[in-house]
Amino acid sequence: MQKAEPHLFIVFGGTGDLMRRKLLPALYSLVTQELVDQSFRVLAVARDEFDEGAYRSWAQEALDEFAKADGEAMHKWCNSCLNYFAIGKGEADDFAGLRKKIEEVESAHELPGNRAFYLALPPRVFPATIEGLGREGLNEAPGWARIVVEKPFGRNIESARELNKLVHQYYDETQVYRIDHYLGKETVQNLLVFRFSNPIFESLWNRDRIDSVQITVAETVGVGTRAGYYDQAGALRDMVQNHLTQLLTLTAMEAPAAFEADAIRNEKVKVLKSITPIKDSDVVFGQYRAGHILGESVLGYTDEENVPEESETETFVALRLEINNWRWQGVPFYLRTGKRMKERRSQIVVTFRPPPVSLFMGTNQRPISPNALILTIQPDEGFDLRIEVKKPGQGIALKTESLDFRYSDDFVDLPDGYETLLHDVLTADQTLFVRGDEVEEAWELYTPLLAGGHTIHTYEAGTWGPGVSDRLLAELGDWWVSL
Ligand SMILES: NC(=O)c1ccc[n+]([C@@H]2O[C@H](COP(=O)([O-])OP(=O)(O)OC[C@H]3O[C@@H](n4cnc5c(N)ncnc54)[C@H](OP(=O)(O)O)[C@@H]3O)[C@@H](O)[C@H]2O)c1
Repeated sequence: MQKAEPHLFIVFGGTGDLMRRKLLPALYSLVTQELVDQSFRVLAVARDEFDEGAYRSWAQEALDEFAKADGEAMHKWCNSCLNYFAIGKGEADDFAGLRKKIEEVESAHELPGNRAFYLALPPRVFPATIEGLGREGLNEAPGWARIVVEKPFGRNIESARELNKLVHQYYDETQVYRIDHYLGKETVQNLLVFRFSNPIFESLWNRDRIDSVQITVAETVGVGTRAGYYDQAGALRDMVQNHLTQLLTLTAMEAPAAFEADAIRNEKVKVLKSITPIKDSDVVFGQYRAGHILGESVLGYTDEENVPEESETETFVALRLEINNWRWQGVPFYLRTGKRMKERRSQIVVTFRPPPVSLFMGTNQRPISPNALILTIQPDEGFDLRIEVKKPGQGIALKTESLDFRYSDDFVDLPDGYETLLHDVLTADQTLFVRGDEVEEAWELYTPLLAGGHTIHTYEAGTWGPGVSDRLLAELGDWWVSL
C-alpha cells in the first residue's frame, strides 16, 4: 500500500465523539502499519482551553478504549505526536494564531508544509471554518492542502449549493474530500469488485433479468444522545440522502472507463440524473413507538431525552424509485431505513425474474421462490445467492438454499471505514468521496420530499417498520424479502 507523504493532519473538532471513537484509532492504526511517515503529526483544534498535556491524556484514554493496540506504544505516540490548539471564538486573530501554531509544529518536525484539514465539526460550523481558513490563506500551503468535510453536507438542495459555492471560493474540487463513511466499508467497496470482476453476474445485471432491487439499512439503536441533531434532520436526511443513495448508485451504475475517481463518480452521477422525480405517494414515513428490542423494552421516539413531545420527525423511511435508463427502465428500486428496527442489518437484495414457465408449480405446495442475490454490508459481511434445489425423496419438492460467502470465514479483521478513508485522503485518492455535483444531485432528488405535511405512521420498536410500507411493493407484486 502506498505510504502517505510527510504531512500535518489538522482536526477541527479534535475533542469530539468522532475524534475519540473513530479518527484517533484510525490514525494510530495507519501509524502502526507504517502507512504514514515517522514525521507524521496531528494537530487537534477545538474551542476548549485544554493544555497540550491534558489533551494527550484525553487522547490516551480514547485510544485505550477504542483502539486495538499495545497501550504503552500508543501512549508514547500521543505524547510525542499529538498537539492541541484552542481556536477561541474562531475570529480572524484565532485563525492567525492557528497558522502560527501550524508553522511551529511543521518547523519543529521538519515537515514540508503538506496539510490535511479535517472538519469533524457540527455542520453549522462548517461555513465559518471554511471561511476562516480561506481568509487566513490556509486553503493553500507550501506543499499540498486538502480539506475533508464530514456529513451531512447541507440540509437540502439550496444549502448544499451554498456550501459548495463557499468551498469552491477557496478550494479546487481536487482538494475537497466529502466524507460518507459508508463508502469506506470493505463490503461497499466490494460491490464494485463483485460487479465488475465477475462477469457472470454483470451479464444478468439489467432489466431483462432483474425483477427488483431492495436496499435496507436497519438499526436497532434509537436516537440515543443525538436528539438535538436528529430531531432537526430525520431519517431522510440522516440516512437516505447519503448512505442509501451511495449503495443505490454503486448497485446501478455502468462500468466506469477506469477504476479511477472521476470515472467512477461520473457513472454515479449519471444514475442520479436518470432517477425520475419521486412522488409523495411512493414514500412512507414512520416514527417508532415503545416496544421491545432483543427482549428489552425501549421507549418511543417522543419519550426519548431531548425529543419534543409533539415531534413529527421521521425515524423510518421506505420509498420506491425508478431509474429511467436503458439498463433499469421498469425495475423498481425499494429503499428502506429505520431506527429501533428488528435487527441491525444493511443489505442489498437483488431479486431475479422467475422462470418464464413454472414446470414445478403446484407440485411443491408453493410457488417457486425467485433467485435472489443478497449482499450483506453489516453484520455478517458477505453474500448469499438463493437458489432452488430438489428436496430428496419421492416426487418433486423444492427448497430454497443459499450459496454463500462470509468475509469472517476467510479474513480476520476488516479495517474500519475511517482508516481506509483517511489513508485515501493522505494519498490523494478521491474515489470513495462524494463529488460536489453528486451531493447536489442527491439533494435535488430528495428535497421535494422534505416539504413536510406527510403522514407519519408509527411503528412498534423491534419490528420492520410500519406495515403500510408493504404497500409500496405489493402494488407491483413484490414483497420485502425476509432478511
Ligand atoms: N460521532 C460520530 O460517530 C459521527 C459519525 C458520522 C459523522 N459524524 C459527523 O462528524 C462531525 C462531528 O461529530 P461529533 O459526533 O464528533 O460531534 P461532537 O461530539 O459534538 O464534537 C464536536 C467537536 O467540534 C468542536 N467544536 C464545536 N464548535 C466548534 C467551533 N466553533 N470551532 C471549533 N471547534 C468546535 C467541539 O469542541 P468545543 O466545543 O470545545 O469547540 C468538539 O470537539 C459532525 O458533522 C457529525 O455529523 C459523526
